[in-house]
Amino acid sequence: MFATRCAAKIAARSFSTAAPLQSKVAVLGAAGGIGQPLSLLLKANPRVTDLGLYDIHNTPGVAADVGHINTRSIVTGYTAKDADGLKRTLQGAELVVIPAGVPRKPGMTRDDLFNTNASIVRDLAQACAETCPEAKLLIISNPVNSTVPIATEVFKKAGVYDPKRIFGVTSLDLVRASRFIADKLGRVVDVPVVGGHAGITIIPLFSQVEGLALTNDERAALTHRVQFGGDEVVKAKDGAGSATLSMAFAGARFADSLLRASAGEDVLEWAFVRTDLFKNEGLEFFSTYIKIDKNGVKEILPLPASISEYEKELVKNAIPELKKSEAKGTAFVAGN
Ligand code: NAI
Repeated sequence: MFATRCAAKIAARSFSTAAPLQSKVAVLGAAGGIGQPLSLLLKANPRVTDLGLYDIHNTPGVAADVGHINTRSIVTGYTAKDADGLKRTLQGAELVVIPAGVPRKPGMTRDDLFNTNASIVRDLAQACAETCPEAKLLIISNPVNSTVPIATEVFKKAGVYDPKRIFGVTSLDLVRASRFIADKLGRVVDVPVVGGHAGITIIPLFSQVEGLALTNDERAALTHRVQFGGDEVVKAKDGAGSATLSMAFAGARFADSLLRASAGEDVLEWAFVRTDLFKNEGLEFFSTYIKIDKNGVKEILPLPASISEYEKELVKNAIPELKKSEAKGTAFVAGN
């Protein structure tokens, strides 16, 4: 009996002989606070067959470390010092996850990061446009409300733009909203979060959670907590950065959704994407409900008609702010 159970365990852990889908995932900024745990979680994902890690420094150490984990994927790690390091990381990538750039310190807004991170995202997006224009880009670097328009402009300039494949990762807002109501609800469920990824542009749709009854005060407090949840972490880390572990979890979850969609599953997600939903207001990017398939965004769904008046007002107030960040990102590439 013991021997049989052992054999079954060994069989379960060995690699399947069925031909796997080849899924290379590249992480740019892999040696950072988010990059390292994200690389770990991606190494643990059986759908990933190749993991390419890139950073300006320290990547070989991270690659050697996670590379010893006995899952299927092969790991490579390059730095800016390696000849063609970035290119080799990106070659053949299906997904490119970008957490490269500086994080916030106490008292900073995400927009305060613009001056440093805008050029980092622009240059990395340029490399993607040249080496893996068909890859899906998952942009984590803040301010997401501007860095997604930046990557978009770079891809447009390079003549390889497809709005289906560029995503601003807002999953941490969903993860937080879900966690913040879990005790009250008695279970962990998805909470749609729409809008953008900064302060008042983050809009949790608690009205869409079945069985959740909130007073107006509770709803306002929870909404504020989701919008400024990042500040709780920045404050608690006291100068040592912003959310890294929960962000890695959320980023790995979103990457897995895209890999599942590539394997043929119908997946519903939420992300900051190019959309015509608010075209009349002159806004091009908004985080909303998306159906994804192997090509990226398959369908963008409108906000549910049943969202509350309170949530409608939040959407209205977010639009001018989103437009400002979008214009700043777009102008940055145009002026360079
Ligand atoms: P970190 O400073 O710990 O790591 C950033 C890494 O990027 C460093 O290892 C750095 O060497 C690398 N890097 C810088 N320039 C690079 C380049 N040109 N090419 C490749 N790598 C480069 O920062 P952390 O905490 O990992 O945060 C990264 C970014 O993610 C920040 O912009 C932060 O604001 C953002 N973030 C986004 C969230 C979201 O929900 N979308 C949540 C939390 C953070």
